[in-house]
Amino acid sequence: MTGGSRGIGGAISTLLAEDGATVAVLGLPEDRMRAQSLAASLNGAASRLHFYETDVSVFDRCREAVDAVLKEHGRIDFLVNNAGITRDRTVRKMTVEEWEAVLRVNLSGPFFMIKAVLDTMLEQGYGRIVNISSVVGEAGNFGQANYAAAKAGLIGLTKTVALEVAKRGITVNAVAPGFIDTDMTRAMPTAAIETAIEQTPGQRLGKPEEVAKLVRFLLDDNSGYITGAVYNINGGWYM
Ligand SMILES: NC(=O)c1ccc[n+]([C@@H]2O[C@H](COP(=O)([O-])OP(=O)(O)OC[C@H]3O[C@@H](n4cnc5c(N)ncnc54)[C@H](O)[C@@H]3O)[C@@H](O)[C@H]2O)c1
Repeated sequence: MTGGSRGIGGAISTLLAEDGATVAVLGLPEDRMRAQSLAASLNGAASRLHFYETDVSVFDRCREAVDAVLKEHGRIDFLVNNAGITRDRTVRKMTVEEWEAVLRVNLSGPFFMIKAVLDTMLEQGYGRIVNISSVVGEAGNFGQANYAAAKAGLIGLTKTVALEVAKRGITVNAVAPGFIDTDMTRAMPTAAIETAIEQTPGQRLGKPEEVAKLVRFLLDDNSGYITGAVYNINGGWYM
């Protein structure tokens, strides 16, 4: 579970740990304290949430984290690629560094993590991978060329890996949330948030817990015939 200490990832970690799963949260140094307080807030499930400092934009760090998880816990049934960043600016003003930073975390990160866990899942003959894409990857969004390109690329990655491992008991799906009430959205200008709500037929932001429940559904043992799919969860913002 990458970036699983706050926001959508925090809600997914919470739900899975409370369901009885052992959850490995991979995150940046600043996520460590948050993961610890998240663990402490879990009803009787604190010991099931473990933090591994990992920058998902670096392949070797992903491989080391996966090795550490395997050493401590023996198997990896689920991978949720949730870590993501924004560096918003119109294309004219966007620097090459801003373009590359977002592509590296939001698209290369999931590729690195999938590459790091896939052999284990293939040996197990079982795995569930969920990639957190975005409505922006489907519809585009003003000032988010880097983010939209990464999230659209993640859908292509999802479908391709799904094809490659479909016979081997592994499913790979994407979830494309609309505007969800998290720190990432709160960093947007207030006017942009208001416009997003106005443009959403459901007339509100989504909740991280709503996305978490959809992810849990896709991770379920009974969801084995769902693969290569993109699930929208956006209050009708994009259909
Ligand atoms: N909030 C929304 O409205 C929304 C909508 C659609 C998609 N998403 C996607 O959902 C995911 C979670 O979003 P959120 O709103 O909860 O964001 P958030 O900013 O609250 O949380 C993201 C987490 O990822 C971690 N992270 C960032 N870079 C990392 C790296 N290099 N290595 C490891 N961890 C890293 C952060 O430290 C943080 O804990 C992201 O992929 C985001 O693009 C969010």
